[in-house]
Parts: sequence; structure tokens; C-alpha cells
Amino acid sequence: MDAAETDPFDLAADAAAVLAERTGVEAHSVALVLGSGWAAAADQIGEMVADVELADLPGFPAPTVAGHRNLARSIRVGRVAALILGGRAHLYEGHPVSTVVHGVRTAVEAGCSTVILTNAAGGLNPDWPVGQPVLLSDHLNLTGHSPMVGPAPPADKPARFVDLTEAYSQRLRGLAREVDPDLPEGVYAALLGGAYETPAEVRMLAGLGADLVGMSTALETIAARHLGAEVLGVSLVTNAAAGLSESALDHAEVLEAAGEAGPRMVALLRGVLERL
Ligand code: HPA
Repeated sequence: MDAAETDPFDLAADAAAVLAERTGVEAHSVALVLGSGWAAAADQIGEMVADVELADLPGFPAPTVAGHRNLARSIRVGRVAALILGGRAHLYEGHPVSTVVHGVRTAVEAGCSTVILTNAAGGLNPDWPVGQPVLLSDHLNLTGHSPMVGPAPPADKPARFVDLTEAYSQRLRGLAREVDPDLPEGVYAALLGGAYETPAEVRMLAGLGADLVGMSTALETIAARHLGAEVLGVSLVTNAAAGLSESALDHAEVLEAAGEAGPRMVALLRGVLERL
């Protein structure tokens, strides 16, 4: 049977089983999804236990976006077994929503009750410089998709109508602020992506209450909350959103901005893992 015909929850369970076998780690408790420009953090957050190519796990496509790494890495930080997913599938790559959230579903099947989602984002708040990390307080899912669309979840999984009142955990934001007390928070608008926004779209997003704009995260958050995991979302502002500054938008510059913020990101992620 091809992957598209398999129940997505079964496929995640299959991937988790292969992950456990390949890493030798029976259960992980935290997953870290590294967005554009965050990949270097994978080498510095904890003690490396094992690497597995994502493409070797059932249901994972090879990432196609520069700045993403094709790796699942098992690390240890103190007592915590953490799973780093160094690649992410996006809708704009043409993947179905089930593939976009497969990493998060696999992580929860692998035992993760905490999911940390990182991304690069355009900033709408003029007070935030490039390189500013921001904790997500909430999101606007403007992708037009949801991981809860499709056949009802199997009987051993929670039903479809997920409560998203606290999509991003207050508790985890508190831990992040113990590590880095000055972190601001904001609302992340998730768009289909593939192109940056127009200035008119950015003005619209500001009117809707967005502080950040990006092309990922929200769907993964919904999938993680559906399965009961707590979510911490962290954006790195890699540019002012379109029309808010003089500079042109360019993916290479997004990656460069993310690279410069690397040490602060590593300290933040490591500090949160140590406090779980
Ligand atoms: N818009 C959407 N996604 C992004 C941006 C942006 O300005 N910067 C980094 N990812």
C-alpha cells in the first residue's frame, strides 16, 4: 500500500517503531522541530545519541528547502531524551497536510508529551529587530488547511474537535522566560507560503492581530494538541514583513539572520529542555 493510502496515525506509529529500533531509544519525551536557519542548533543542544535519516523513516519525504537538514537526531540533555527533527515538510512544497504533520505525530507516538516548534518568521512589530526570538502566544491558521480534515481519527485517538484555547502552553512559555527573561510573545499568522507576502497582505495581517508571519507551525501545533502534547512555539524574526522596511526579502538573508542568532537560540532550547 502506498503511503498516501495508509491511515496517517498508523503511519506515524510505524515511523515511531522504526525510529526506536534505529536509535536504540525506546521512548523520547520531547520533540524539537527545527525551522529554517535553526539546523545548526542540533549540534549544540545536547549530547548526541544517534542520527537517523528522515527519509529512512516511513512517511517522511526528503526535505527540499535550503536550511533544513534531512535528519532525526536523538539527543540527551540531563535526564531528558529529546528527538530533534531537522527537517520539516511544508504545504508549499506540494505535500499534503498529513505529511506536513507527520513528524509531530511520529514524535508523539515515540513518547513525546512536549513538542517545541521553531521557525523563521517575518516580524510585524516595528520594535523587534532582525534576530529577535519571540514566543508564540497564539496563531492564526490562514493556510486553508487543517490536519483534522479527513476520515475521523481512529477509535484509540481523541476525536476531531480539538480545543485550541491554549494552543501554546503558558507553562512552557514560563520556562522559556526563566532562561531568557526578555523574550516577547506574539501571534503567528501561518500562510500557505511559497512566496513572501505583499505589503497589502501584511497590512491585512496586522489588522487581524498578527505579530509574526510564516509558512509553517500552525498545522503541526493543531496535530500535537489533538494528541495531547504541550506545545512551545518560538519564532526567530529574520526580516521585517514585506513593506515594513526598505530591504528586499530573500531566503538567503533569512538564513543568515537565523545563523547570527544561533547561540541565543541554543541557550534557550537547551535551558528549556533542562527545566522540563
Ligand atoms: N513571511 C513568511 N515567511 C517567512 C518570512 C516572511 O516575511 N520570513 C521568514 N519566513
